[in-house]
Amino acid sequence: MTIALITGANKGIGFETARQLAERGATVLIGARDPHRGRAATEKLAAEGADTRFVQLDVTDAGSIAAAADRIDSEFGRLDILVNNAGIPGRLDGDGAPSSTSPDTLREVFETNVFAPVAVTNAVLPLLRRADAARIVNTSSEVGSMTMAADPAGPLWPMAALTYPTSKTALTMITLMYAKELRDTAIKVNAANPGYCATDFNGNTGFRTAAQGAEPVVHLATLPADGPTGQFWGYRWGAEDGAEYGPLPW
Ligand SMILES: NC(=O)c1ccc[n+]([C@@H]2O[C@H](COP(=O)([O-])OP(=O)(O)OC[C@H]3O[C@@H](n4cnc5c(N)ncnc54)[C@H](OP(=O)(O)O)[C@@H]3O)[C@@H](O)[C@H]2O)c1
Repeated sequence: MTIALITGANKGIGFETARQLAERGATVLIGARDPHRGRAATEKLAAEGADTRFVQLDVTDAGSIAAAADRIDSEFGRLDILVNNAGIPGRLDGDGAPSSTSPDTLREVFETNVFAPVAVTNAVLPLLRRADAARIVNTSSEVGSMTMAADPAGPLWPMAALTYPTSKTALTMITLMYAKELRDTAIKVNAANPGYCATDFNGNTGFRTAAQGAEPVVHLATLPADGPTGQFWGYRWGAEDGAEYGPLPW
């Protein structure tokens, strides 16, 4: 029995990640801050035959994180998969350019996209250590790739927004640091790039589906023992070699 916790699993890529992990036989804990939305998502997947439980989890609330970790401990005694999926695009101050962005706006995005994954990971790390071979996946984004952002010929060159891209750059580096700390354990820690997906996150403008976005997340969450750790991996926007998925530049 594989126990998987997904944060922000009530909709979008998190929901599809939950669905795909359940299809692979995992018991999926639907982390959601809102009980109504969380239970509705849990019941929807249960109606499809999934083994799901709702876990109230606001990733910016220390008490909610501690209560979720306690509950998983008492109910299962361990955790096999953690997907730090919950994220926000954040507000735009003006046009979102660095010179018009306030530190408060930046802090707000970092609370959810950067500080929260650290808080959640640290809270459940003792449970992950009890699993035979736990997997941690941080749902990052190619817009956090410094190499891609700095490429004048690349699709991200026109972007000069401060909040969301920098939060995902931080999350990708956080992934690498955890992977290094845990490299002598069976735990693998990787960052996924879902690609640009049609979800509420972007007013449903993405050119991929949320289910497609969940694929690299699920791949990293179910890596075999000889799989990589400390990688930034997923959908490769504009890749010319025909390979849809692969490692992304930092
Ligand atoms: N969509 C894309 O094109 C894209 C591309 C690359 C990466 N991503 C990343 O993929 C992840 C999922 O995005 P999405 O597109 O699926 O967005 P979404 O449809 O807006 O879903 C975001 C989820 O995060 C939850 N969430 C936000 N703040 C939370 C908090 N404090 N505590 C708990 N849950 C919280 C939301 O819950 P509520 O329903 O309660 O708001 C929702 O369940 C994000 O990390 C995003 O950065 C998305």
